[in-house]
Amino acid sequence: MKGTPTILITGGAGFIGSHVVRRFVTKYPQYRIVNLDALTYAGNLENLRDIQNAPNYSFVKADICDAEAVAKVFREHAIDGVIHLAAESHVDRSITDPLAFVRTNVFGTVTLLNATKEAWKGGFEGKRFYHVSTDEVYGSLHDGGFFIEETPYDPQSPYSASKASSDHFVRAYGNTYKLPFVLSNCSNNYGSHHFPEKLIPLMINNIRHNRPLPVYGKGENVRDWLWVEDHAAAIDTIFHTGKNGETYNIGGHNEWKNIDLVHLLCGIMDRKLGRAEGESAKLITYVTDRAGHDLRYAIDASKIERELGWRPSITFEEGLERTVDWYLANTEWLDHVTSGTYQQYYAEHYAGR
Ligand code: NAD
Ligand code: TYD
Repeated sequence: MKGTPTILITGGAGFIGSHVVRRFVTKYPQYRIVNLDALTYAGNLENLRDIQNAPNYSFVKADICDAEAVAKVFREHAIDGVIHLAAESHVDRSITDPLAFVRTNVFGTVTLLNATKEAWKGGFEGKRFYHVSTDEVYGSLHDGGFFIEETPYDPQSPYSASKASSDHFVRAYGNTYKLPFVLSNCSNNYGSHHFPEKLIPLMINNIRHNRPLPVYGKGENVRDWLWVEDHAAAIDTIFHTGKNGETYNIGGHNEWKNIDLVHLLCGIMDRKLGRAEGESAKLITYVTDRAGHDLRYAIDASKIERELGWRPSITFEEGLERTVDWYLANTEWLDHVTSGTYQQYYAEHYAGR
């Protein structure tokens, strides 16, 4: 991007979005960053307290499904680039309420695409729409191998089906209206400010409170974990140097069976909390499996490494240490986000499992 571009980041109050906003606001003081977020249960302005008064940052509370509100943002700010992260993001919630995922991830994305196309109707020169997606659109690996950019889409959960649909719409707008876009599909992220309904922060919080650690099924499902700040760095790289119309897979070369990961976390927490070795692991409880649980995700990230020179910057051991340290230093954040409606979600979701 040349000059002093204005970039609209959607979902910037969420887990990954807040890291992307922080990175862009601090690394590019010459850019203007507009964060549009509906502040659902997963969105939290506390995530951005350190940069909320930065002169190049502004926040707009709006729903991406609200065409008028989104058009207003484009009218009030001369937006040059969009980085779209706003989404419903939790697979378990998509199983109980698929339509919420269709609404935000499909209808919301198309609403945003329409507003972008309308605002840029004078010409696409210097413009870029970046859609942030997930490796879950490729489905579930059973016999080895890795997801590459050409792997056919085969989404297996309502969440991944809704993300797959949004990816198709972005590519369709590129093809039909020549909207300049880039797209990335990333593996599971971990790090600070992660809402504790997801595996790693949920386990850290439960270990902290000596509560059962609910491992779905036999704990044999495999995920490929990437430190969230490395994902934010990849988004920065792709946004600035990715080729128009291209897709990039992002991953950490870091596959873990859930049960091994939970044991690793228990060991770190024992050490940090001064507990006897093996103490936290006694909390592990096998519970009823997730319906349609994808067995394994694993990303081949060689395209972004080869073409754009991005690589994960830290090891998993280092990233997990930093992550656990952050949660233990920010128990107030954890307590805030786990009060109120979270309690009800947790009680309902884990009841009788
Ligand atoms: P998150 O649930 O933590 O945050 C989502 C954010 O979007 C929240 O701030 C929420 O308030 C906002 N939002 C939700 N609905 C909205 C709406 N209708 N209008 C405006 N804002 C709305 O999610 P995350 O984990 O940070 O994921 C961000 C993006 O990255 C998503 O598109 C997700 O599919 C993708 N992704 C996530 C992961 C992961 O491991 N978390 C991995 C790959 C890709
Ligand atoms: P999650 O963090 O929800 O990410 P995703 O489903 O998008 O990969 O879950 C990661 C893995 O951990 C997944 O295989 C489901 C499993 N899991 C549990 O075993 N127990 C839990 O309480 C949660 C939330 C997830």
